[in-house]
Amino acid sequence: MHLRRPSPVAGAGGAGDASLRSLTAMPIGAAAEPALLESDVAYAETLAREFGSITPENAMKWGPIHPDESAWRWEPADRLVEYARAHDMLVHGHALVWHEQLPAWISAVAPRRFRETFEEHLQTLVGRYRGRVGSWDVVNEALTSRGRLRDTIFLGRLGPGYIAEAFRIAHAADPDTRLYYNDFGADGLGRKSEAVHALVRGLLEDGVPIHGVGLQMHLDAASPPAAADVAANVERLSALGLDVRISEMDVRVRRIRARDRLAVQRIVYRDILAACFERTDLAGVSFWGVTDARSWIDERFGEDDPLLFDAAYERKPAYFGVRDALVGT
Ligand code: XIL
Repeated sequence: MHLRRPSPVAGAGGAGDASLRSLTAMPIGAAAEPALLESDVAYAETLAREFGSITPENAMKWGPIHPDESAWRWEPADRLVEYARAHDMLVHGHALVWHEQLPAWISAVAPRRFRETFEEHLQTLVGRYRGRVGSWDVVNEALTSRGRLRDTIFLGRLGPGYIAEAFRIAHAADPDTRLYYNDFGADGLGRKSEAVHALVRGLLEDGVPIHGVGLQMHLDAASPPAAADVAANVERLSALGLDVRISEMDVRVRRIRARDRLAVQRIVYRDILAACFERTDLAGVSFWGVTDARSWIDERFGEDDPLLFDAAYERKPAYFGVRDALVGT
């Protein structure tokens, strides 16, 4: 069998006490919130010790960063980018075009001015971080679970070509940054992942500057996709010549019997990642947060413990599942 495990960093030796970022040359990342860097020392330390890449969890989204038509709020995003630089971490920008967390003013933009507003937003944001943000989620969640184009303000005002337009604008603003299409529920095989594949293949055929696909990988341990299906999906996308990254991984466990939860979670993390690594070189794996004390899951799906570190920043079994996948055991 042709094994393509992540190449170890020279001299890393056995896993031992090593951090995740030291185990592999592949970027291992986490979604991060700038406010926590100052308010929570353990958070900041864990982030920089374990991860080699940061995705701003909210700071670069349209609403938070461009709250008024004529006002940008750069400071939180700037702080994250600076933190990444100081700790030798990459930054994956997120997300230029998404139907959630939009500012109210955008719906009031006159339809004939919408294209110009859209272009200006993308140009300004990508341009500001040119050379400092090495990859971007350009379009996020444009497809429904049935695989159709989601009915968003972007589709309504600009038509289906808005996706290609977004990539072209971002590419013009920073020709060196890697541009991704990112979505959820397209992790294994099925209708949605077929649709994602068809969408990105179409973009490539049209000469659109797209470089990769992000699979969010928000999983429920009670009904995870088959690891082999995830690996096949990753391989199929990668065969198009695109980079593939796991962009927002977390694993919910509230539906698992309490005493088995952490062990089952460890296995889900390990099996999915190991299956992918065995067949394809991923462009990165990022988790959607650091500690169970602060995860979006609690609000969206109910109390849970989906991440790699517990509330005291201790490494959970899930952490060791990821580590096992990285070192190939
Ligand atoms: C979530 C953030 O984690 C929350 O803090 C915020 O309130 C809502 O958005 N898919 C995405 C992410 O692409 O941007 C979402 O992040 C989680 C789902």
